[in-house]
Amino acid sequence: MRFRQPSLADDAGVVGYLVGVASTSDFEAWCEREWWRALRERYRLDVERREADAELVRSIHRPDRTSPAITGAFPAHFHIDLLPRAQGQGIGRMLIERLIERLEQRGVAGVHLGVEPANARAIGFYRHLGFTEVAVEDDGGLILGLRPG
Ligand SMILES: CC(C)(COP(=O)(O)OP(=O)(O)OC[C@H]1O[C@@H](n2cnc3c(N)ncnc32)[C@H](O)[C@@H]1OP(=O)(O)O)[C@@H](O)C(=O)NCCC(=O)NCCS
Repeated sequence: MRFRQPSLADDAGVVGYLVGVASTSDFEAWCEREWWRALRERYRLDVERREADAELVRSIHRPDRTSPAITGAFPAHFHIDLLPRAQGQGIGRMLIERLIERLEQRGVAGVHLGVEPANARAIGFYRHLGFTEVAVEDDGGLILGLRPG
């Protein structure tokens, strides 16, 4: 296994990623300017579609916005996924520690993430690393957060 920014790979290919942003509110504003406006023109609401597609189009017109109650204390957020063959070897910890190190260097106060309540393994992993519950979303999704230091 080798770690070479931006990819984490073995001989068979990429095995996982961590992507994150230092400011969720800046990121959401950037998405609005750079993506959502143009996509709304392209994918209009008044066109008939299969339900799965219609749901995606609705999310373009009404994108999720993270509550200031979360971004105030935990401005950064990230997503992480490793294929099964890369799990359980310390890679998740290593990626998150690197992220936190960089956020600390940039003076970012805290970081959050969303996780399905059914994903007990990931929740156990995050709690083990020091994340605590920050909020529960309307659909039951958990928001966990960490304030390093
Ligand atoms: C969740 C995930 C990121 C964890 O990464 P990982 O590389 O498998 O975990 P690590 O091997 O780095 O584990 C780090 C530490 O957490 C501990 N840990 C892992 N899962 C745990 C659990 N369920 N409960 C308690 N501790 C756990 C490990 O024992 C290890 O402890 P140590 O470093 O103190 O020895 C990874 O398994 C994954 O991508 N899973 C599938 C996709 C997913 O669920 N993504 C998250 C969506 S929100």
